[in-house]
Amino acid sequence: MRTIYWQDNIVKMIDQRLLPAQFVIAELHTVAEVVQSIQQMYVRGAPAIGATAALGMALAARQSLASDRDGLLHDLRQAKQELDAARPTAVNLAWATTRILDVLNQAPATLDTGDLRALALDKAQELLQEDIEINRCMGRHGATVIPDGAHLMHHCNTGSLATVDFGTALGVVYACQEQGKNVHVWVNETRPRLQGARLTAWELMRAEVPMHLVVDNAAGSLMRSGQVDVVVFGADRVAANGDVVNKIGTYNIAVLAQAHGIPVYCMAPTSTVDLSKATGDDIPIEERAAAEITHIEDRAVAPAGVPVFNPAFDITPHRYLTGIVTEHGVCYPPFTRSLHSAKAGSRDTP
Ligand code: MRU
Repeated sequence: MRTIYWQDNIVKMIDQRLLPAQFVIAELHTVAEVVQSIQQMYVRGAPAIGATAALGMALAARQSLASDRDGLLHDLRQAKQELDAARPTAVNLAWATTRILDVLNQAPATLDTGDLRALALDKAQELLQEDIEINRCMGRHGATVIPDGAHLMHHCNTGSLATVDFGTALGVVYACQEQGKNVHVWVNETRPRLQGARLTAWELMRAEVPMHLVVDNAAGSLMRSGQVDVVVFGADRVAANGDVVNKIGTYNIAVLAQAHGIPVYCMAPTSTVDLSKATGDDIPIEERAAAEITHIEDRAVAPAGVPVFNPAFDITPHRYLTGIVTEHGVCYPPFTRSLHSAKAGSRDTP
């Protein structure tokens, strides 16, 4: 299952807003539509929105009317600005657009605009393919810290749908399954948008991974009664000191896990590690619409006009993490050192 792909010279993606009730492929013809797909969360999850933005850059190159290199690069810088602004927290977005723009900026002067347009698409496709390989690699590294028979607790959706394919934390679950390990997953429903209930449950049932869907508030009780062996989640951005910014509620389960002596692992590709941010407090936290909390689909579940605060992400300070799994292996504290090495091992360092 590919979450996002390029076909017939447009961007296509699974419209995740409609899952699990309907499986619909959305077709995006313009950069504005790609920006909208990210903002309105047809596509979500840090690596998936990075990949979408890369294809958005290829679309911008294809649709630019510029007849010379400078004009094309100008249009691409404009598209990058629009794409980067779509959602503020996941660093993969700007990482991906920077990567495409850098390649074109550095391309030999002998290339004409047609060559540059083709190069933008090649590099975007390469980034998508790499995402799948990186997830598989991360899956293998992550599986080494998961014992056979483990009961995992997982937050949000970090699977195929949050990436181009396979996933980060759920990729580790799939890797365990491929290796014949028996694992069972407690799937946190993940209020308010229910990425756990709608997306993770859908993915794990398709893959026939043993699981139970639970309300977010069940975490403490499950841990106290000894039913959770390891907590796993992904990240939208990891700071240089190992603080993890991820879906709201991640901090709650990390603190609970530490209180119960349960290991906590974050799975994140190095494209999600942002060494320019010293700590989690330096990372912007997206606030989303009140309706995500006050309504379920079109039905109001709170009084009209109620004041709402809806941060989409929280910061889990690094002291609550046992390890951070990247495509280069498992990073352990002190994260400032281990993340730096992992980042240096990556193919490029934005
Ligand atoms: O608001 P979302 O659904 O885009 O948030 C996604 C998450 O928080 C994921 O846990 C994170 O991006 C890691 S996905 C591999």
